[in-house]
Amino acid sequence: MSAVLTTRNLSRYFGAVTAADDINVTIDTGEIVGVIGANGAGKTTFINMVTGYLPPSEGEILFRGESIRGAGPRRLMRKGLSRSFQVPQVFHELPVMDNLVIALAAAENRHLNPFRPVHGPERLKAAEAMLEQMGIDAYRDELVTAMPQGARKLLDIGMALLADPSMILLDEPTSGVSLEEKHALMETVMEVVARRNLTVLFVEHDMEVVRRYVTRLLAFADGSVIADGTAEEVLSDATVQELITGKARPAAKEA
Ligand SMILES: Nc1ncnc2c1ncn2[C@@H]1O[C@H](COP(=O)(O)OP(=O)(O)O)[C@@H](O)[C@H]1O
Ligand SMILES: [Mg+2]
Repeated sequence: MSAVLTTRNLSRYFGAVTAADDINVTIDTGEIVGVIGANGAGKTTFINMVTGYLPPSEGEILFRGESIRGAGPRRLMRKGLSRSFQVPQVFHELPVMDNLVIALAAAENRHLNPFRPVHGPERLKAAEAMLEQMGIDAYRDELVTAMPQGARKLLDIGMALLADPSMILLDEPTSGVSLEEKHALMETVMEVVARRNLTVLFVEHDMEVVRRYVTRLLAFADGSVIADGTAEEVLSDATVQELITGKARPAAKEA
């Protein structure tokens, strides 16, 4: 296996707050990494730094062996590093299809070419295919405001996938999504990422979802990684149970 993402002594301070405290992780090709941690543990800060939305205070980030310090989100997206957001970053007042076409145009070009139509036939075809893969084709011509939260999350993730990344980071893909919708959403997302052989990191609060999908689990507390291993190892860790999962519970055996 080869390293896709490496962080070395990665830290971020906001005034007196240490949001990321000397994080050293290496993620290999094909890993499906879950991230757990209480609110304020530094999960989003970590994703923001890795995807170019937030400059680190200290430390180094390597993507496929190359330092990406100082690179912004769009440059990283073109290198193959995409993300989705806890609150979907979509254009609410536009139809779903337009959101996808705009995401695709943004992924392709440094500057949109005013002489080339945004809704070209190839882009329309790629956007249609993504709608179908994400299972949201019923909303094709609807405004985003007409979509339930789970479908908005799928749209946001679909937009990130249009950049054809090799790694995707998902910040709480199931937050705000109903229990009934949650499992179908993760099933759809994991099917799509498996088909594309993507390396994935996702933040998740539902331990049932974590157990089902991750090949590796990181537990964050106070800006640090306090446990790193299989889901079973991390979820049976006493400190993880004390700080994150709430109470001691036996590791469930999946059927
Ligand atoms: N832009 C910011 N300005 C000041 N403090 C911030 C900012 N972003 C995050 N923080 C602080 O950093 C810590 C980690 O936050 P965050 O990464 O959002 O945690 P999580 O995603 O695990 O809930 C928290 O104490 C939070 O208040
Ligand atoms: Mg967060």
